[in-house]
Amino acid sequence: MCGIVGYVGAGDALPILLDGLASLGYRGYDSAGVGVIDGGSLEVVKRAGKLDRLQEALDASPLRGSAGIGHTRWATHGEPTDANAHPHLDCSGRVAIIHNGIIENFPELRARLVKEGHTFRSDTDTECIAHLVESHRTDGLAAAVRSTVRELEGAYAIVVASLDEPDLIVGAKVASPLVVGIGDGENLLASDIPAVLPRTRTVVPVEEGQIVELRAEGVRISTFDGIEVEPDPIKVDWDVERAEKGGFDDFMQKEIHEQPTAIRDTLVGRVDPLDYISLDELRLSETLLRDVDRVFIVACGTAYHAGLVAKYAIEHWTRLPVEIEVASEFRYRDPVLDANSLTLAVSQSGETVDTLEAARHAARQRSPVLAITNTVGSSIAREADGVLYTHAGPEIGVAATKTFATQMVALHLTALFLAQVRGTMFPEEVAEVLQRMRELPEQVARALSLDEQLRALARRFAGARDLLFIGRHTGYPAALEGALKLKEISYVHAEAYPAGELKHGPIALIEPGTPVVAVATECHVYRKVLSNIQEVRARGAEVVAVATEGDEEIASVAQHVLSVPRTPELLAPVVVSVPLQLFAYAMAKERGCDVDQPRNLAKSVTVE
Ligand code: F6R
Repeated sequence: MCGIVGYVGAGDALPILLDGLASLGYRGYDSAGVGVIDGGSLEVVKRAGKLDRLQEALDASPLRGSAGIGHTRWATHGEPTDANAHPHLDCSGRVAIIHNGIIENFPELRARLVKEGHTFRSDTDTECIAHLVESHRTDGLAAAVRSTVRELEGAYAIVVASLDEPDLIVGAKVASPLVVGIGDGENLLASDIPAVLPRTRTVVPVEEGQIVELRAEGVRISTFDGIEVEPDPIKVDWDVERAEKGGFDDFMQKEIHEQPTAIRDTLVGRVDPLDYISLDELRLSETLLRDVDRVFIVACGTAYHAGLVAKYAIEHWTRLPVEIEVASEFRYRDPVLDANSLTLAVSQSGETVDTLEAARHAARQRSPVLAITNTVGSSIAREADGVLYTHAGPEIGVAATKTFATQMVALHLTALFLAQVRGTMFPEEVAEVLQRMRELPEQVARALSLDEQLRALARRFAGARDLLFIGRHTGYPAALEGALKLKEISYVHAEAYPAGELKHGPIALIEPGTPVVAVATECHVYRKVLSNIQEVRARGAEVVAVATEGDEEIASVAQHVLSVPRTPELLAPVVVSVPLQLFAYAMAKERGCDVDQPRNLAKSVTVE
């Protein structure tokens, strides 16, 4: 997944494609490629690495033609190599395709296509689309794409070019963004508006389940069932910077709002219709997982908080003891591990040196290491025995938001998988949790609508010197993450405590007006959290409670209530963290801070 550009017109396609890709570069990518049609030939050039590597290759052999497709890739299936970069070709080399998203049923499609005699040249899920289009090619390109999408399961935006119809580019969309740029004697397709802005400001967003036929002289849009749709163009008056952020003010705000999609992408392809979890890419045998007698989790910062959330789920669902430690501490003590200890190394970047070294430390003691990361081909992913990718897409804001949500979901999947393999849950119990996990994107979307209420709270608390965050059970790691987000981007001092621990010291900090954010959603310790809120209220605290929708009691103890959808307590932090992220964001904006680039912080911490 990452950036898509398609062009048909009178101009020279290559520089237009490269400009479009460059304007999507802010999204982050690990390889790039283009395919250009020139009458009788379809030439593809692609390279792992940044666009300048592709440019060097193109300088050596420039491509001419007035139709083409270009892609920047953020690896999901298969490492960032030249062969895995897009476009992908069919066997005959007459069909080229670029793709964002994930094809859920690609293992079955690939097996079938290989049986039918197709030759695969990459490890990607994308390549099967090129071979499917090839198998339907005799119908014409648009009809071939229509037949192909009927066989695809998952989330995708695809753009296809074929030598058989050199003046046509075809796009299709399910769940991944795709827009048409209407130009003068030329038209474009792109995954994001910035890619078309240098050529046009007239844009048609492609809707779910639509196919676009793009020619120089016009655009035809129809549904997957072939019903023609009248394009409804909009005029984009955003500047490029705003367009890059999808109309949001900052990348962090955009990424907070991308969480429903990111969570959906983490779940895609990992559960079959009978609710059987198969984590094919895990690379750890079921025998090995059955022999595990203890789990260690190593991570830093936000990823550590995701690990803390997972500890509750793993212990409850698998009855395996879990030890979790901040990676920079783990590696300098002498933890007792052996071949039966499973180590989970959680890291969005996959490059955090503390986590990498902690994973190496575990591996030296023969512990199998499973990486949970967002970055395909990263150091931790490469060195680990197994890997589960979070599929959040690139995260640009320094503060982790959507990668946190997807780390929790990937860890929950891992915990359920362990329970399935070890037989510690009945299949119906696993199915029930999976059903609740599928509801998370919609619940997170509802929690995002608290934005206005959080802005008002931020106006009230922007001048606060210190805030306390409290929670119990899984509410505690959610509180820790809420406090970390606030510190990171708004520079307001915040501490998180297990709510029951307050009376052992920190309650001395409470004075009239001290803001306390309490995670008080429905759970088996709810009443205890209420008592802890009473304790701080009695000492003058101003309490903001994150509570479950329909809770009428909470308003009697908290001055401000943020209501979130009802979620099982082991999954609740995925939803609860949304208002806490929005609060940190609103506080930072209120205080005039740069939320995307907070001071002193880097996105990937590769020093000790
Ligand atoms: C917080 C944040 C950091 C990272 C930590 C680990 O918003 O981004 O706390 O979570 O530096 O980074 P990764 O996950 O890349 O190992």
